[in-house]
Amino acid sequence: MNVLVIGSGGREHALCYALRRSRGLGRLFILPGNAGTAELGTNVPGDPSDFQLALEVARREDIGLTIVGPEDPLAAGIVDAFEAAGLRIFGPTAAAARMESDKAFAKQLMRQYAVPTADARIFDDFELAREYIATRDEAVVVKAAGLAKGKGVIVCADPADAILAAERILVDRVFGDAGARIVVEERLLGREASLLAIVDRHTSYLLEPAQDHKRLGDGDTGPNTGGMGAFCPTPLVTEAVLRQVQTQILVPVLDALVREGIPYRGVLYLGLMLTSAGPKVLEFNCRFGDPEAQAILLRLRSDLLELLNAAVDGRLEEAVVSWDPRPALCVVMASAGYPEAVRTGVPITGLPPAAEDAVVFHAGTRRVGDAVVTAGGRVLGVTALGATLADARRRAYDLVAQIRFEGAQYRTDLGA
Ligand code: AMP
Ligand code: GLY
Repeated sequence: MNVLVIGSGGREHALCYALRRSRGLGRLFILPGNAGTAELGTNVPGDPSDFQLALEVARREDIGLTIVGPEDPLAAGIVDAFEAAGLRIFGPTAAAARMESDKAFAKQLMRQYAVPTADARIFDDFELAREYIATRDEAVVVKAAGLAKGKGVIVCADPADAILAAERILVDRVFGDAGARIVVEERLLGREASLLAIVDRHTSYLLEPAQDHKRLGDGDTGPNTGGMGAFCPTPLVTEAVLRQVQTQILVPVLDALVREGIPYRGVLYLGLMLTSAGPKVLEFNCRFGDPEAQAILLRLRSDLLELLNAAVDGRLEEAVVSWDPRPALCVVMASAGYPEAVRTGVPITGLPPAAEDAVVFHAGTRRVGDAVVTAGGRVLGVTALGATLADARRRAYDLVAQIRFEGAQYRTDLGA
């Protein structure tokens, strides 16, 4: 079966890596891909949110399954467009992708179906938000309801801070229309974990649990980013936590969506806070996490294409999934200036060849002649397996030390 992957990040390179190990894979295309995916398939230049182009490629190349990496095309309805054209695609419809693209919608759904999450209020009027925040004496978190490239969440120290955040989002529109509504919620305390489920309506399969590192700097300091690294599995998610997530979060949410007439198919990413009162939902994403996917997929032993096909065909219960027992850790190397504006076109040297137990997943990279140069904020996801998490960390950082590009930033404390 020929496969088309939509996207250009480390997550998409990791998807391609796992697809290459799938028995049923024919030709592999990536729209638009990066220098790493070009080694595994054919990159097709173009905008990943251009459905007409994606449909055209799917028809021209006789694609049997399209897999969507990023949230933007999902939220804009790429799955609806493919299904209307009678083409097979893995991902949620635009209505179901609102679990990520509209935090107010997700919050209301959770409240209605008693799914554990932070208490929250939703506002589109700054004055009302200000009055409400002023009455709160504990710390709150202010979130733009729409898609804001992972930057729309402001964890506030005190009410004055939170009022300022609400003003910046609702009035100054620093996140554009994504900030037409805000969610003001209670600040939860605990450790965070990422759980990704492959979903077909009611049926789901939970991938191995991961943890990502969202802050830019060592010791969880500095601004939030898309993710500076990840590891899998995480000891934080015990069997007991998994059972709680299944029964209190995943099953009720999927049933709620079916009941609301918007059944979910694709990956549902649960961003969780493990609180003293049990796991609570911080956010949903409608796609694989990046860089969680890099760590998770390096450990996948069974056939990814077969798993995704099973979900699309509604026979997920038949899927057999197996994992490498070795933990994996991914260190993101980012451009100078990330997560703000970055300079691109910087040459990268020292890239090692892929090995059975270590892969440098490309994110913002591009090939120029014989050279690979930077082409984005997050550049590489250096990912290694190890006998223990400490061993995986050592191997990943050994590789990081060999790779050079000017201004590279990475955390040195991942998985520590
Ligand atoms: P989100 O994109 O909603 O996952 O938020 C980004 C990050 O903000 C999360 O990974 C948490 O570190 C933090 N965060 C979001 N919501 C809360 C909350 N209610 N309490 C504490 N931290 C939060
Ligand atoms: N690593 C967080 C995300 O993919 O949203």
